[in-house]
Amino acid sequence: MYIFKKTSELQQYVKTLTSKPGFVPTMGALHQGHISLIHQSKQENDLTVCSVFINPTQFNDPKDFDKYPITLAADIEKLLNAGTDILFLPSVEEMYPDGIQAQTNYPLGFIDTVLEGKFRPGHFQGVCTIVHKLLDAVTPANLYMGEKDFQQCMVIKKLLSILDSKIALHTCATLRESNGLAMSSRNERLLAEDRLRAGAIFENLMMIKSIMKVQSFQSLQEKALHALIDKQIAPEYLLLCEADTLVELPDFDFEKKMALLIAAKIGNVRLIDNLRLN
Ligand code: PAF
Repeated sequence: MYIFKKTSELQQYVKTLTSKPGFVPTMGALHQGHISLIHQSKQENDLTVCSVFINPTQFNDPKDFDKYPITLAADIEKLLNAGTDILFLPSVEEMYPDGIQAQTNYPLGFIDTVLEGKFRPGHFQGVCTIVHKLLDAVTPANLYMGEKDFQQCMVIKKLLSILDSKIALHTCATLRESNGLAMSSRNERLLAEDRLRAGAIFENLMMIKSIMKVQSFQSLQEKALHALIDKQIAPEYLLLCEADTLVELPDFDFEKKMALLIAAKIGNVRLIDNLRLN
C-alpha cells in the first residue's frame, strides 16, 4: 500500500493509471463498516484509494473534534489487511492551505436545513468542502459511502450534481454490532455499558417498523422516545421522513418511500441512525 501525504503527489500517481480508482473517504478510527466499503470498491475497481483525514470544518462542536478517536496505526493495519492500494493521509495544512476559515458555500438548499443540518449548523458545508477537495485530489470514478450517514449520502449526491461530476456515488448498507448498534467511529468513545445500552436506538426503530401498519407515527414516536429516555439515552430527534427528499411526514404514508432518522446522545457521545421502512 502506498501512502501519500501530498495532493500533488497523489494526483501525479493517479494520472499514470489506466483507469480511475474507487474511493473511500474516512476520518479514520476504522471499523468493519469502512472495511466493507473498501471490499466493495475492490470488487468494482482496479485500484482503491482510502483517505484518513479528520476534517476540522465539519465539527460544529469543538469538543467533538478534540475527542474524535485517532487510531492511525490500527487503521493502517486494517487497510493493509483489506488490500487497500493507496492511503491518502494529508495534514490540515495540506487540505486547508489558506486556513480552515476559507470555505466554499455550496447551494445545498432544503437538505442542509433539516435534521443534521438543523442540529449541526455548518456541518454539511464542512463535509462538502472537504469531499470536494478530496475528490479533486483522488479523481475517482466511483465513490463509496455508508448509509448510516443517510443525509450525508444525499448531500454528497447533491454536491456531485452541483459540481456536474461524473463520479458515481455508491451508498452501502449499514453494518451493525451484535446488539443492533450501527457501527460508527464514535462507538469507540462509549463506555462498555453504554455501548450495550445504545442497542436500544436501533431496537426502537425496529419496534416502530414492526407495528407501523396498526398505529400512528405520533404514538409510536412517543413510545420510542420514552423507551430511550428510560435507558438514559437522550434523543435529539426521531423523525419520519420521505426517504428520497427528507421532507418530514406527520404520519405513515405507504404510497411514499419512508425512512426513520434519529440522533441521540449517550453521555456526551452523539449517535445517529436510520431505517428505511418500505
Ligand atoms: O463520513 C465521514 O467520515 C466524513 O464525513 C467524510 C465523508 C470522510 C468527510 O470528512
